Amino acid sequence: MKTPSLFIGNWKMNGNSSDLQKIIDSIEKSVGDGASDVVICPPFPLLFQQNNRKKQSKVRIGAQDCHYAKSGAYTGDVSAEMVVESGCSHVIIGHSERRLYHHEDNATISKKVSAAIEAGLVPVLCVGETYNQREGNQVREVISSQVRSALEHNVKSKQIVIAYEPVWAIGTGKIPTVKEISEVCVIIKESLGYIGIDATRDKVHILYGGSVNDGNVEELNKVGSLSGFLVGAASLDSKKFSNIVNSRRN
Ligand code: PGA
Repeated sequence: MKTPSLFIGNWKMNGNSSDLQKIIDSIEKSVGDGASDVVICPPFPLLFQQNNRKKQSKVRIGAQDCHYAKSGAYTGDVSAEMVVESGCSHVIIGHSERRLYHHEDNATISKKVSAAIEAGLVPVLCVGETYNQREGNQVREVISSQVRSALEHNVKSKQIVIAYEPVWAIGTGKIPTVKEISEVCVIIKESLGYIGIDATRDKVHILYGGSVNDGNVEELNKVGSLSGFLVGAASLDSKKFSNIVNSRRN
């Protein structure tokens, strides 16, 4: 059976509870019974809201980060267990904004992936090169080391999502070409293979993220190895996000 497409909305530090309610209602209506999985990752204070709702929703909720420790003196942090308790199925780990503003390195990210898996969450590992790294022909080296270092201690779990998010494409309106994304998908699959994960057999989702919107999604859908998208700004707009989700229905 074909793996359902996966669409993850990364709200970053945006949105409020009524925005969340509206977007969930709208996605549920517009997506219908389509064979797609949709996960929205709002800021931490909004996570419980969906958990407290009456019925099972087709739209699942994820967090944007978690700490690697189970508990302790980590002011401002949230553990993977707490994320599970608030009703989340997924957690984004290693987003470039966390790597940049919170100085998260590959070792920290690996520990977070382990904690997420142990708690029963699906980790959404973000990888991607900066503009200078692309210009310096370092794409293979950067992507491979990000994938391998985050996952090599975690190979027991095959329930992993990898989001290729070139740093230079996030929030800039620029996107890589179909060829560039396809090349990185090959690097990701090779890196997974190196640590004993077969991307196809193990049904690993490879997503693309970085300035995805309903105007460029048709072009991005030409990348055969992708099974969906990690969407930032456009996931805050119910019409745009629904159009993106519905772009892969046929
Ligand atoms: P963007 O963000 O779609 O607004 O570029 C994507 C992301 O950072 O995950």
